[in-house]
Amino acid sequence: MKVVLVGYMASGKSSIGRLLARDLNLKFIDLDEYIEDQMKKSIATIFLEKGEIYFRKVEHEMLSKVLDENESVVLSTGGGTPCYGGNMKTILENADHSIYLQLPVSTLADRIRKEKDDRPLVKNIKNDDLLEFVGKHLFERRQFYSQAIYTVNADKKSIEVLVDEIKDLLL
Ligand code: S3P
Repeated sequence: MKVVLVGYMASGKSSIGRLLARDLNLKFIDLDEYIEDQMKKSIATIFLEKGEIYFRKVEHEMLSKVLDENESVVLSTGGGTPCYGGNMKTILENADHSIYLQLPVSTLADRIRKEKDDRPLVKNIKNDDLLEFVGKHLFERRQFYSQAIYTVNADKKSIEVLVDEIKDLLL
């Protein structure tokens, strides 16, 4: 079984994916971590040294590789993964289940404000401008995320509750 989690930055894809995989006894892959392992560089360094377009190319190749090479996996994608290079189509064609973790702009902006430094796309946005930035960015990206088979409202729920909710959808 291949399960792919999509959603905006800080929507909990990695922590939920990790726990979901453990509960389902499946392998877990976080696409950002996978890229960092393969490239032997942090995402921030890849952005800094080679720029976003290069990162998107690598991300596109690694997504296909992970989905090709793993019969059974829970894959947490990066916030931009579904939005470039036909990646959402690849996800829909290769995954048995795709899940969009949906959260309100205000919650996402609050979470991102606390962990901005590791995220190259928001690092230089002033805290006061973050709500507006996330609102506009999510508006552009929502059309991709919402193609996932399931949309889960992830607001004000613990990771454990969300994992149980997702398991109910899958099993
Ligand atoms: C990105 C999200 C990041 C990472 C990169 C770009 C994006 O992943 O892939 O910084 O375009 O939204 P997270 O969603 O895990 O933060």
